[in-house]
Amino acid sequence: MAERRRSAKPTSMSRAVLVLSGPNLQLLGTREPAIYGKDTLAVIHARLESIAHERNARVDCRQSNHEGELCDWLGAAPAAGFAGVLINAGAYTHTSLALYDAIRAIALPTIEVHLSNPEAREAYRHESKLAPACIGKVAGFGSNSYVLALRGLLDLLDARR
Ligand code: DQA
Repeated sequence: MAERRRSAKPTSMSRAVLVLSGPNLQLLGTREPAIYGKDTLAVIHARLESIAHERNARVDCRQSNHEGELCDWLGAAPAAGFAGVLINAGAYTHTSLALYDAIRAIALPTIEVHLSNPEAREAYRHESKLAPACIGKVAGFGSNSYVLALRGLLDLLDARR
């Protein structure tokens, strides 16, 4: 059985990635473009969908301004068949023990994503409450941070097969 699983062709279902973006990221494109760039979240999501398709994987991209909704989506992720998570929690990154707990609770490989590099910005952005629950972080590459994070997560999922 284990042997069969190793040699089986990965299915898009077994490589489904939940991509979550938090507060104010629906405004990308017009929100402080000098910091966050000009790509809209829709453009970023389309790029992730295309990369996932090339890699025989699937992404489900969602955005919410509500901490509880992000917790709900994280909590439901294992039963929904997701193999991993990318999360840009926006400002909740720096405040949310609830999101930290949710990521710990689901035990799926989770990558923290930021367009900017919070550690090079205001002091109140230097601490991430989520980082200790995540396997890694991609920050500072603009919209490309999402792309790099997806590639890294898919490589990790491949290596675990
Ligand atoms: C952000 C960085 C956060 O500090 C900020 O609150 C955001 C966006 C980023 O992607 O660079 O909303 O997560």
